[in-house]
Amino acid sequence: LRDNTPVRYDNHRECWDVFRYEDVQYVLKNPKLFSSERDRANASMLTTDPPKHKQLRDLVNQAFTPKAIEALAPRIQEIADELLSPHFSEGRMRLIDDLATPLPVIVIAELIGVPATDRQKFKDWSDALVKGARDDSDEAFQELMEEKKRNQQELASYFTAIMEERRQRPEGDLISILLAAEIEGEKLTAEEVVGFCILLLAAGNETTTNLITNAVRILSEQPELQQQLREHPELIPTAVEETLRYYPPIVAIGRIAKENVELNGQTIQAGEQVISWVGSANRDSAQFDQAEKFVPDRKPNRHMGFGFGIHFCLGAPLARLEARVVLQTMLRQMEDIQLVPETVLQPIQSAFVFGVKEYPI
Ligand code: HEM
Repeated sequence: LRDNTPVRYDNHRECWDVFRYEDVQYVLKNPKLFSSERDRANASMLTTDPPKHKQLRDLVNQAFTPKAIEALAPRIQEIADELLSPHFSEGRMRLIDDLATPLPVIVIAELIGVPATDRQKFKDWSDALVKGARDDSDEAFQELMEEKKRNQQELASYFTAIMEERRQRPEGDLISILLAAEIEGEKLTAEEVVGFCILLLAAGNETTTNLITNAVRILSEQPELQQQLREHPELIPTAVEETLRYYPPIVAIGRIAKENVELNGQTIQAGEQVISWVGSANRDSAQFDQAEKFVPDRKPNRHMGFGFGIHFCLGAPLARLEARVVLQTMLRQMEDIQLVPETVLQPIQSAFVFGVKEYPI
């Protein structure tokens, strides 16, 4: 596809597909030509264009700088130890259910300011937010959507209650920061604060679950890599980056053309959908040497696993840190990480997400 039809129209899905690194980058770095705007009523930073986008992003940027995030390392280590230790004596665990799903949920809950006592309730809602992608449910689609809506409403009223508490007694958490924040002299509305929290859950949880799982998957597929990283743990951060290139949790990013645009010999009309295939760009040999090989110390590594341009993932420092802590801990404490034999991997049913439903090790 990269060689023969680098930009093509898909008649069935009625959208353009873009496969080459250079073209994907062009789409993502030109928000004037390729818009992120969807449903205006539910606009979040992910689905707004400049100048509104920058205002929304600036509000939370300070909570997500690499420095602010690095301060969370000891707590993330504690959570990882707590989740991993019950499984050491047994020698077996369900990577996704036991570790890769709960870890990001607990971290984000604490960052937002959800009390520890509500953690289970919170996890249930959070799981339900991504339901449909991960479950083999044969419920009617309509029913699933209804349930999702109910769930979002419950979550919204839960966040609203916490917000009221923090209005009285601010703390150092993200909800308190958002309540104090202003855009052009105006405070955020309650809906905007709640919308922010839900965005963080929706954008950050399943993606991080899949990053952790995809990283462990490579380690179990390539045992010599485990040995190399045990001997050289300083390579773990670049190995995490290489996972984002090689097995990216998000493989495609959607935009809408705002004007007629010429791209690699094709004319995209204003209003048409454009899908940037990050998963393909990340394997483009015009950009990466040995593109089909997992190179744990690859440098530079300009993968687009976190996107590119103004919408570059806000949570990237957090996702990187969580993956790093998990890999360091697992490699240190587990002698040999293997997928349980005879396991048939089931891909998550989504064109945009790359991951599996279960990964017993
Ligand atoms: C944006 C991937 C983790 C919050 C993005 C985008 C990608 C991405 C590809 C760009 C979307 C676009 O251009 O339309 C990932 C991956 C993750 C991850 C692969 C884990 C490995 C997180 C976490 C959080 C988060 C942990 C928050 C706690 C966001 C937000 C945006 C975003 C808020 C929108 C930024 C903007 O529009 O300016 N992410 N993400 N992500 N991500 Fe992540």
